[in-house]
Amino acid sequence: MSQFATMRYPKVFLVFITLGLCSTVVYCQLSSTYYSTSCPNLLSTVQSAVKQAVTNEKRMGASLLRLHFHDCFVNGCDGSILLDDSSTLTGEKTAVPNANSARGFDVIDTIKTNVEAVCSGVVSCADILAIAARDSVVELGGPTWTVQLGRRDSTTASLSGANNNIPAPTSNLSTLISSFSAQGLSTKEMIALSGGHTIGQARCTNFRARIYNESNIDSTFATSLKSNCPSSSGDNNLSPLDLQTPTTFDNNYYKNLRSQKGLLHSDQQLFNGGSADSQVTTYSSYQNTFFTDFTSAMVKMGNISPLTGSNGQIRKNCRKPN
Ligand code: HEM
Ligand SMILES: *[C@@H]1O[C@H](CO)[C@@H](O)[C@H](O)[C@H]1NC(C)=O
Ligand SMILES: *[C@@H]1O[C@H](CO)[C@@H](O)[C@H](O)[C@H]1NC(C)=O
Repeated sequence: MSQFATMRYPKVFLVFITLGLCSTVVYCQLSSTYYSTSCPNLLSTVQSAVKQAVTNEKRMGASLLRLHFHDCFVNGCDGSILLDDSSTLTGEKTAVPNANSARGFDVIDTIKTNVEAVCSGVVSCADILAIAARDSVVELGGPTWTVQLGRRDSTTASLSGANNNIPAPTSNLSTLISSFSAQGLSTKEMIALSGGHTIGQARCTNFRARIYNESNIDSTFATSLKSNCPSSSGDNNLSPLDLQTPTTFDNNYYKNLRSQKGLLHSDQQLFNGGSADSQVTTYSSYQNTFFTDFTSAMVKMGNISPLTGSNGQIRKNCRKPN
C-alpha cells in the first residue's frame, strides 16, 4: 500500500510535465528533451538550415548568436525581437541596439518554415533562436552545449526594454556588470559571454570615438581602422570585432584585449587595469576554460524568464503573434 502510494506520485508529475500543464504544484522548467516525442527531427532540421546559412555567409553565424542575446535581455528569451512592427504592435527592431544592425530574420523565417513542415504548431520561435545560436557557434568552430527547450513565444514586445536593457558599446565596466546583473548574470558570466565578440562585425558609428579619441588602444590598430571609418562619415561601414579571425569562434577576442585591440570601448573595458583583467588573461591563455565558461553562461542566459506552461503561445509566424 505504501509502496503503491510512493510509485503513484511521480507518475502524476510525469503526466503534468508531458501535457505541459504547469501550476504552482509543478514548477515548469526548460528541458533538453522537451520536443523529443513531439518533434524528434527538430535539432537536425535547425542544424542543417544553420549550416546552409553559414555556408552562404559566414557572418550569419554571428548575427544569429546576437539575436538570441538581444531576445533574452528584453523580458526574457521569448522571441520578442522577431516581431515586426504593425498597426497593433510596436516591436523591438527599431530600438537603438537593433536598428540597422540586428540581422538574420530571414534565416529564422526559413528555419521556422522548415520546422513547421516537419512538426506543425509545436516549436516556439524562442527555442529556434536558442538552437540556432548554439549551431552557429559550432559551425564557426566553437564549443557545443545542450540547449534547454520549452520556451514559448510572447505576444508582445518592448521597445523601451530593448533600448534600456541591451548594453551600449559606450558602457564602462561597472555599467556592463550592472546590465548583466539585472538579468541575473554574474560578472564572470558577463566576461565569458562577451567572448561572443570573437565573431561578427560592428559599424563605424559604434567604434569611431574609440579609434579617434581613446588612449588605451594600440595606435597601429587605430590607424588601420580610420580609412574605413572616417571621422565624420561612413557610419555603417563594417569592421570585424576580432581583427584576427572574425569568422572563427576562438579565444582571440581576449588576446586582442590584452594588446589593446578591442574594437568597442565596451570590449576594452574588460582589460583596462580593472577587476576583469585577470579573467581576460586566463581566457587568452586557456581556450578550453573560455569554452567551458561560455557554454554554461549561454545556458544560463537562455534561461532568462522563459514563458512556459500556458503562458505565451507557439507562434505560427515568428514575425507576428497568432
Ligand atoms: C557585453 C556587452 C555587449 C555590448 C556592449 C555589445 C555591443 C555590440 C555592438 C555595438 C555590436 C555591433 C553592432 C553594430 O555595429 O551594428 C555587437 C555585435 C555583436 N555582438 Fe555584442 N555586445 C555585448 C555582448 C554580446 C553578447 C553577450 C553576445 C553573445 C553571446 C554578443 C554577440 C555579438 C555578435 C556575434 C555581434 C556581431 C553580429 C553581426 O556581425 O551581425 N554581444 N555587439
Ligand atoms: C560608468 O558610467 C556610468 C553611466 O554613464 C556613470 O554614472 C559612472 O559614473 C561610470 N563609472 C565609472 C567608474 O566611470
Ligand atoms: C573626440 O573628442 C572631442 C572632445 O570631446 C570631440 O569634440 C570629438 O567630437 C570626438 N571625436 C569623435 C570622433 O568622437
